[in-house]
Amino acid sequence: MCEKKMSEVNNILRKYNFNQLETVNFWNIINPIFFNGNFLRRMEKDFPHHDDVSLGHHIVSDAAVTYKICQKNKYVNADIDKNVAVIIAMMHDLYTLPWQNNPENFQEYSFNGHGYRHPLEAIVNAINWFPEYFEDRKKAEKIIDGVIHHMFPFPVRAIDGITLELKNAENYDKIPEDLKQMIIESSNRGLIVKHFSLCPSKYKEGRIMSFADKKVAIVDDTIESLRKNGLKTFRGIIALKTGANKNLDGYEEIQKFRHNKK
Ligand SMILES: [Fe+2]
Ligand SMILES: [Fe+2]
Repeated sequence: MCEKKMSEVNNILRKYNFNQLETVNFWNIINPIFFNGNFLRRMEKDFPHHDDVSLGHHIVSDAAVTYKICQKNKYVNADIDKNVAVIIAMMHDLYTLPWQNNPENFQEYSFNGHGYRHPLEAIVNAINWFPEYFEDRKKAEKIIDGVIHHMFPFPVRAIDGITLELKNAENYDKIPEDLKQMIIESSNRGLIVKHFSLCPSKYKEGRIMSFADKKVAIVDDTIESLRKNGLKTFRGIIALKTGANKNLDGYEEIQKFRHNKK
């Protein structure tokens, strides 16, 4: 089972033209995260991210593109910690529940929608599942700020004392106090409008990763999906707003659920 998931990763690396040395280096960086049960669960088909692409597939693709960008000449001598950039990618979307056609992932208040809230869930899970990456507090700050602002130019939910409706609220309470403060400060940086923060990551590693996320999600995955599914691809784009995706199982049920909620 694990071999199938490993070969899926190697296919992603081939797609992005990794040579042998890059492949070995990349595996060395992602190893401790990839082989964790929480991550492997996200490589399953029933944990879709964009349309029917699994969350794990999306995350590894982002990590691969991030790695490649960091290798570019202009970045090699630019004081960029490539490992940290790839780790941000591996953690950036570790949210708690599949978000499409899933009533359990819905929220009471629209300002707590999955799109705004998931970077907070991701960093909370990452700190709980992989505490060793947050022992060095300087690196911890880079990772935290990178994950929280990875959606830029889309805003993130600012932690402002109003209920967040996190699906992993119990894990938020377990985080060491100084790391929690870093999360709160990061989520309150930049332009604050209503319950949201809008700003790019403070660090180059986070900004590179955020760019890789857009390239993979908006360009690469959309082209692949258009080839595979034709115009049905646009149903996946509508799902970004509604959480309901006609291309996936459970669409009728979620439509009923949304209707009853009104
Ligand atoms: Fe995201
Ligand atoms: Fe992403």
